[in-house]
Amino acid sequence: MKPKILVARAIFPDVIARLSQYFEVESNQEDKVFSEDELAIRLQGKQGIFATLSERIGSKQIQSNPQLKAVCNMAVGYNNIDIEAATRAGIAVTNTPDVLNETTADFAWALLMSAARRVTESERWLREGKWEKWRYDSFLGMDLHGSTLGVLGMGRIGQAIARRSMGFNMRVIYHNRSRLSQNLEDNANHAQYVGKEELFKQADHVVLTVPYSSQLHHIVGRAELALMKKTATLVNIARGGIVDDQALIQALKERRIGAAGLDVFENEPAFYPEFLDLPNAVLTPHIASASERTRRAMADCAADNLIAILTGQTAPNPVNS
Ligand code: DGY
Repeated sequence: MKPKILVARAIFPDVIARLSQYFEVESNQEDKVFSEDELAIRLQGKQGIFATLSERIGSKQIQSNPQLKAVCNMAVGYNNIDIEAATRAGIAVTNTPDVLNETTADFAWALLMSAARRVTESERWLREGKWEKWRYDSFLGMDLHGSTLGVLGMGRIGQAIARRSMGFNMRVIYHNRSRLSQNLEDNANHAQYVGKEELFKQADHVVLTVPYSSQLHHIVGRAELALMKKTATLVNIARGGIVDDQALIQALKERRIGAAGLDVFENEPAFYPEFLDLPNAVLTPHIASASERTRRAMADCAADNLIAILTGQTAPNPVNS
């Protein structure tokens, strides 16, 4: 008998077909986001789950499903999963690192350029039929070339973002849990390690790529925003909760910083509606990894992990082994 698995959200049909060769698959192609209770019920009898960042997998789902062996997240981040509870229960958790680094770095730049050069703001204005004449001071923004880029969280995505700054002749400063090797710093456009405060003070543009954990909740709050230059740009492609969104709204409203490019929000898909009234905020719905090729690679990677664990092989991307 094939082991039973749950594919918790809609996913590429060919990935479901591949999983079906190994497992009895309950899929959710109607794409309902299960409540925590419903997820615990859906998991009954399942040995594995193909999950996304929308599924909260904590002690409720774990304790009520002692048969569960594998939680394979289609995301590099895994803050939706209680890793300690999973580990205690002997459940293998996996993620999808690396396959999304370059696509996510591209998108960080899209947000940075849109925010600093007021692309979406001026486009909205044009679409509203407000363009009557050229003016010397229309939509003046901040330059990227020759400026200082600050990267908070210099993992593989942060490094990919920093590498791209070479073409803009930028200086890169970064802050991270630990300093990178000289070789990695050199490859990341000769990035210089600085303290967190210095990063916020010196950078013309700050990009956040730190993974979320409760210790890093609101690591960017009122105090950090107050250190930033009045013209500075903040880009968050990490996770909601890294930034205190209320404090950010105030800073943007009072023009204490220049602009923000945000792909993630606290409590998403809900977000503070005040963001919508801010012309200096570029807002996108958590799509930094959303290229056709990369989302396919992520789905394949999560499937590879699930197949490996439930067929007794070593998972390629363990989080808690
Ligand atoms: C991730 O992988 O963690 C992203 O946030 C979603 O692609």
